Amino acid sequence: MIPTDDRKMESIAGDSTSPYKLLFRALTLIPISHYLLLVFFVFVVFVYNLLEIHIVQDFFGGFGGDSVSLTFHSSSDLYREVVSKCHLLHGRYFSTPWLSSPHLQTILLNVLIKTPKFSYKREIFRTSDGGTVALDWLMNSDVIETSAQVNGTNTVADIPLVILIPGLTSDSASPEIAYKMAKHGWNIVVCNHRGLGGVPLTSDCFYTAGKSDDLGEVVKYLYHKQPDTPIYAVGTSLGANILVKYLGEEGDNVPLAGAASISNPWDLLIGDRFFTRGIMQRFYNRVMGNNLKGAAKLHQEVYARLSDWEGIEKARSIREFNNYSARIAGKFDAVDSFHRWASSARLVSNVSVPLLCLNAIDDPVCTDEAIPWDECRKNKNIVLATTQHGGHIAFFEGMSGKSLWIRVVEEYLSTLHSSMLMSKKQAQQFAETSLETPQFHESLS
Ligand SMILES: *[C@@H]1O[C@H](CO)[C@@H](O)[C@H](O)[C@H]1NC(C)=O
Ligand SMILES: *[C@@H]1O[C@H](CO)[C@@H](O)[C@H](O)[C@H]1NC(C)=O
Ligand SMILES: *[C@@H]1O[C@H](CO)[C@@H](O)[C@H](O)[C@H]1NC(C)=O
Repeated sequence: MIPTDDRKMESIAGDSTSPYKLLFRALTLIPISHYLLLVFFVFVVFVYNLLEIHIVQDFFGGFGGDSVSLTFHSSSDLYREVVSKCHLLHGRYFSTPWLSSPHLQTILLNVLIKTPKFSYKREIFRTSDGGTVALDWLMNSDVIETSAQVNGTNTVADIPLVILIPGLTSDSASPEIAYKMAKHGWNIVVCNHRGLGGVPLTSDCFYTAGKSDDLGEVVKYLYHKQPDTPIYAVGTSLGANILVKYLGEEGDNVPLAGAASISNPWDLLIGDRFFTRGIMQRFYNRVMGNNLKGAAKLHQEVYARLSDWEGIEKARSIREFNNYSARIAGKFDAVDSFHRWASSARLVSNVSVPLLCLNAIDDPVCTDEAIPWDECRKNKNIVLATTQHGGHIAFFEGMSGKSLWIRVVEEYLSTLHSSMLMSKKQAQQFAETSLETPQFHESLS
């Protein structure tokens, strides 16, 4: 025992004997500004994690971006003859530093990207069941004076056509992709979903996440209308799901020269589970559920007749919306049966046209858990390109936040168009006689 030490302790403790009181007194001695600093720091860490910001990781990676990961069959002609020649796919993708968050990329896409004003020419297409689909045309000649041409096009008739299939509830969406591609020498036609784009529902059927037969009819119609024109298709988000589902269902009978899928959800069941997980995912789920309700409201009378309108009005998520609309109208016993049926992942192995699939691993809307890696690797017609970052259909690049790396899709289509593969595929199609007669249609402008 050393008595002097005991005395020292007593003098520090004063009259309080509890260590907690002691601690409290010590804490009161810390200036309030230090607490505010701590709160601020905790807040920054919270936001950093919530928005999945990766600027620190980018910094330690020397701001060099990540190389694109390509998944394909080892004896894939599509890889050997086309994708191996695409420089962007063999480079690195580095996201805009001040947008180094998949959420910022996804949310700010429509805010930051301004496309020059242009207008589509509308054509109304009538499907075999009496439904109405709005086709919005943007010709290469509408956006340029002196013609920029895709390699291999010599005359106007040679200009290749790209069908764009928009996402969940977008009307004539992806104006950025449409405009850029038209400018670079392609003719564009946006195949809107039935009931969207300001057209009425003219038959007892509304569009759902798995409704691929409208696209099938439009493709056939366009093919018969211009049999000498190579036709490509590009789907974004849910539009990619519908496109790949169509490609898988029709297999060899698809008269397309090639296709690209951008930010495909792939598996709507896995996607639905993902939507219930994080704060941000629940937020997206709510927003998209509301968008779906808004789109349904335009055709309330038809929805009410074919499904459960009261349920739809109460729906607070995509799952609930589908449960009261698509499940009932499609006579599925459970909403997840609908989700399984509508998923393009189950049809990947049957895709027979050259298909590039682009997904960002950090896509906050369409989870990477749903990507069908194995099926893509098994199918010689598919190359799957994944990037570490890029968000949902965004892929911002450069410092200004004005450029989208999605131009990779155009590079792929141009290369495909000028490749040998393309001419082989075309010869094959010309030999095809099994395609049905085109559908009745009328033109408006
Ligand atoms: C178009 O052809 C030129 C040479 O004729 C070539 O340098 C260029 O890379 C080609 N562009 C594409 C997109 O294939
Ligand atoms: C696969 O494609 C063929 C046509 O090539 C088609 O008859 C078949 O139904 C497709 N399979 C599935 C599962 O849809
Ligand atoms: C789907 O709707 C039925 C009634 O039509 C209801 O009993 C069921 O709980 C709903 N399921 C979900 C997941 O909302």
